[in-house]
Amino acid sequence: MTRVVYYTATTLDGFLADPDDSLDWLMRQDLDEHGAQNYGEFITTVGSLVMGSTTYEWVLANIARNGEPWYYSQPTWVMTSRELPTPDGADVRFAKGDITALLDDLRAAADGKDVWVVGGGDLAGQLADAGQLDEVIVSVAPVVLGAGRPLLPRRLDLRLVETARNGAFVTARYEVDGPLKEDRPTLDG
Ligand SMILES: NC(=O)c1ccc[n+]([C@@H]2O[C@H](COP(=O)([O-])OP(=O)(O)OC[C@H]3O[C@@H](n4cnc5c(N)ncnc54)[C@H](OP(=O)(O)O)[C@@H]3O)[C@@H](O)[C@H]2O)c1
Repeated sequence: MTRVVYYTATTLDGFLADPDDSLDWLMRQDLDEHGAQNYGEFITTVGSLVMGSTTYEWVLANIARNGEPWYYSQPTWVMTSRELPTPDGADVRFAKGDITALLDDLRAAADGKDVWVVGGGDLAGQLADAGQLDEVIVSVAPVVLGAGRPLLPRRLDLRLVETARNGAFVTARYEVDGPLKEDRPTLDG
């Protein structure tokens, strides 16, 4: 069954990137590429991807800087209200507005594998708002930034499913339970 999975690295204080969208704090961390929650294994479970435009522009800048090809063989949707370039050989599709209107396409493209929500946090939140975010898988770096791009700016209850260590990171996988219990309507109002 296709699941909608938000897989990302975060600082201990819940930021995906610093206020300037830098990931330098992340790239220098010790990581075992064969260890817990490693990317190589994860990406084999992914059938389609969705990301916001800031994340997409970071990827574009990174591949240009390093002279690398587009990273993903799977169909990738980018949420944006703007016109953005597509790298050579990339299967990138653009969409805007209601993310739930895309879900049928994302699931169909996943073809039985999972949908990877690459980020950012509000995009994962848009899916959670619609009750369509199934899992959050995080690698927590030993860094606090105090400010930056938030991991998941919503009020949600999660269930811890597994945890481990990978190099400098604490890794954890959660299932999304739903809105914070305190926020849920009660029978007596
Ligand atoms: N730590 C990690 O492993 C990790 C993982 C992922 C991302 N990141 C980084 O974290 C940062 C995330 O940036 P961010 O918080 O700005 O989030 P983002 O989701 O990457 O980008 C947000 C932008 O996407 C567009 N967008 C989102 N939802 C939309 C919708 N429904 N319809 C139309 N457009 C929509 C909007 O821009 P426009 O409409 O103006 O285009 C919005 O400002 C980036 O620096 C990224 O590189 C880090």
